[in-house]
Amino acid sequence: MKKTSPHIVVIFGASGDLTKRKLIPALFNLHQQNLLGHPFAILGVSRTEMTDTMFREKMMEFLPDNETSADFIGHLYYESLQTSDEADYPRLKERIDDLRREINAPANILFYLSTPPNLYPLIPKHLANVGLNNESDGFKRLIIEKPFGSNLESARHLNRDLLQYFEEDQLYRIDHYLGKETVQNLLVLRFSNSLWEPLWNHKYIDHVQITSSESLGVEKRGGYYDHSGALRDMVQNHLLQMLAMVAMEPPTVINADAIRNEMLKVFQSIRPLKKENLQEDVVRGQYTSSHIKGEAVAGYREEEGVDPESRTETFVAMRLNIDNWRWGGIPFYIRTGKKLPTRVTEIVINFKPTPHHLFDAALNGTTAPNQLIIRIQPDEGILMKMGLKVPGAGFMVQTVNMGFHYSDLSDAYVPTAYERLLLDCIHGDATLYSRGDNVEKAWEIVQPIIDEWDTNPDFPLHGYPAGTWGPLATDELMAAHPSGWRYPCKNLNNDGEYCEL
Ligand code: BG6
Repeated sequence: MKKTSPHIVVIFGASGDLTKRKLIPALFNLHQQNLLGHPFAILGVSRTEMTDTMFREKMMEFLPDNETSADFIGHLYYESLQTSDEADYPRLKERIDDLRREINAPANILFYLSTPPNLYPLIPKHLANVGLNNESDGFKRLIIEKPFGSNLESARHLNRDLLQYFEEDQLYRIDHYLGKETVQNLLVLRFSNSLWEPLWNHKYIDHVQITSSESLGVEKRGGYYDHSGALRDMVQNHLLQMLAMVAMEPPTVINADAIRNEMLKVFQSIRPLKKENLQEDVVRGQYTSSHIKGEAVAGYREEEGVDPESRTETFVAMRLNIDNWRWGGIPFYIRTGKKLPTRVTEIVINFKPTPHHLFDAALNGTTAPNQLIIRIQPDEGILMKMGLKVPGAGFMVQTVNMGFHYSDLSDAYVPTAYERLLLDCIHGDATLYSRGDNVEKAWEIVQPIIDEWDTNPDFPLHGYPAGTWGPLATDELMAAHPSGWRYPCKNLNNDGEYCEL
């Protein structure tokens, strides 16, 4: 394990939800494992007036009540700041300098931007004005939370703005899906086994499905979500990143540039979506009121902060093609939605059927082609579905499961995505962060859909009752594949049932 240099983490947006729910607990976990090194300090910054003590007490509510937490909060400090006001930044610099002297740390500073996105271009500019981008006395790194732009143009703008004040290797664009242990395991599964790579192409794979379903609705985030929708919230980032990891070529080495170059090549090979085919390739849905487990559930338009006539999508499914040597002719289907029957993220590799059909299915059984299911969450693991003989007379085939569950590694500690990513940034490892050109390319892929939805009021917006698997049109996307979508359950091994309603 790499040694962690002394450092200060400065969190902009420290009074926000992400800080208390994800960032502080992640930093605490790192400290508990002795991974944050010594000395270190965490300086919360936001407009709210608060003292260090008040900030510590507030953060304590999200930490366990034990001695390590008491020690950890001693490393927390707070400074109230008009984040958009340039005049406040000399004071921030002074505070950071004082803190460095107090804890005796060099000027290694990680700035975490977790503010409303309109401040993303401003903060780096103001930091640069007081020299807080200068690395001559220690590293200065900037983590930028999503959303990184709201379309291709704004993402390009933001990249341009950031690069005026910081170098690309100081920028860490976060996509927390890349921090998930199971997403990283995709690389290990693919590239540390000789078993898969010969099969991982158009010759043996029929199609790939990527599903990220959530049972929750928009909760208290209606105001944000109504201007975002599932395409911007999940597809442009998390789903496309997973797709790139499934489809990429083996990198020559594991480092930030090698991996990000390969991911970029996947994005560059995705066939651009054409306006005239969009209605065939993309399904847009929005949940409507219904009953789940006997309880009435509000529709999206009734949610707090949502326009009662909103046409924002809470569900997207689409077909993408990757025009390269490995994947020519093999469709990738992706879908994501809120208020679906269960919370599951998984990748399903559907292999081609055998060229010749020798055996019959057992009574009530199936002889479905092989599937490899890579479960990102929950019940994290890998499942292989294959046909085996039913014991007894004749040659009847039954599909059986062969699986690995992370939970079997009972003593392995699985870090949260934010833990992994924060530590990587402190170590200066950007492998699991998105590079500027990758983010722009991912926007380029979805931009034709954004344009069409913005300008064509006749593009269908299908309603689907909350608690179901989305619009019926989603099945039509899959018409060429008799086995259709896999309908996952919370437990990796179960499927085919309409579970957890
Ligand atoms: C976030 C989206 O990026 O990812 C949320 O803004 C979504 O809408 C969340 O709920 C899903 O993340 P996870 O880790 O719970 O799958």
